[in-house]
Amino acid sequence: MMPFNPTQVIAKKRDGLALTRDEIASVVSGFTNGEIPDYQMSSLAMAIYLRGMNADETTALTEQMLASGVQMQWPAGVGCVDKHSTGGVGDKVSLLLAPLLACCGLCVPMISGRGLGPTGGTLDKLESIPGFRTDLSLGEIRDVVDRVGCVITGASAEIAPADRKLYALRDVTATVASIPLITASIMSKKLAEGLDALVLDVKVGSGAFMKSLDQARELARSLVDTGCRMGVETTALITDMSQPLGRMAGNAVEVDETIAALSGDGSGDLIDLTKSLGGELLFAKRLAKSLEEGGEQIQQHIDSGDGLNKFREMVAAQGGDLDATRRIAPAMVVESPQAGFVGSMDVEAIGYEIIQLGGGRRVVSDAIDHSVGIETLVSIGDRVERGQPLANVFANQNGGPATCERIMSYFQIVDEPVTRPPLILDRIAEPSK
Ligand code: URA
Repeated sequence: MMPFNPTQVIAKKRDGLALTRDEIASVVSGFTNGEIPDYQMSSLAMAIYLRGMNADETTALTEQMLASGVQMQWPAGVGCVDKHSTGGVGDKVSLLLAPLLACCGLCVPMISGRGLGPTGGTLDKLESIPGFRTDLSLGEIRDVVDRVGCVITGASAEIAPADRKLYALRDVTATVASIPLITASIMSKKLAEGLDALVLDVKVGSGAFMKSLDQARELARSLVDTGCRMGVETTALITDMSQPLGRMAGNAVEVDETIAALSGDGSGDLIDLTKSLGGELLFAKRLAKSLEEGGEQIQQHIDSGDGLNKFREMVAAQGGDLDATRRIAPAMVVESPQAGFVGSMDVEAIGYEIIQLGGGRRVVSDAIDHSVGIETLVSIGDRVERGQPLANVFANQNGGPATCERIMSYFQIVDEPVTRPPLILDRIAEPSK
């Protein structure tokens, strides 16, 4: 057999041919151990971006990226589950769902990420809690899961190092938005958690990476197929991101909203989505007879206060003090310039305003201001009067008035009534044949 030559593999993908499992294995191991330089890997990433990958190739890439690091293992009989969202504005479901699933007897070793583009990051939100650590070692992850049942932390260096290296290259070579590369990146990290079941929340709309339902379905299909091929019961919900989820978007404000929601004062969309995603996992693990019954179990743990207690337990186990003050910046109101109906919102622009206020990073080295954020006070379809508050902007320094002016322009107010979009647009449950 001819010795492996990365240039030939790049040329093969450039010409639209499928790579073999062995070729993919050689590329991933060569890149991880430094034998394949960044310029060749970037070139291959661009070829994959342009030519795509079939399901066999995508699975092989995921398997090899997973095998570049460690895979956690849990004792037999422990139901180990997780959910992953492709990212949205105001999406704090992970903060609610991890403790609620732990209340149902499941183990949730959730490895999460930071903000990406206009979407917020679960780790950034949790770090608004004084003392909260998101850099747990594998031993600490195991310990917190054993004691509490759930953990939310960042990927340690041992988890899918190939993805860590490749993602850094993709970020600066315009190769992020590739379905096989996104699939391998997300699934290699999630499957390293040693899961039995996974639910994916694939967002679509103005505040999501996938702007059309067709694109979202394609990504969901690729994620579900890859998970199922790798032996993990995987389903996906395609959910609306044409308006922020819940009321708050930012960091400390989202932790506050999580506590309110776990205390029984959650907005309808946030609670419905938490119940639907939780229902998927409880049904997959045969702990509920139907998706609806799974959702009801989640609701019961909110009503009893157990979910909030479990969230407190998790925060304490990760060094956080939920009772310490989380500062929120002063609020300024954005008022509607006219009467009418809320027709649409530019959620991506709202997400970028939060970054501009300091709530996210413009460059990797930026420090986050956890106190800023935006509260959305209306939903698509709502009737509003002239001067009615549309949003609150929590801003420091003197950026508030200019931000409020721009935020006002992101709400389109129309004369005709508008139908509120459904929250859950599709469910992908079966692997394709
Ligand atoms: N999130 C990831 O972890 N990887 C991607 O490629 C995109 C989003």
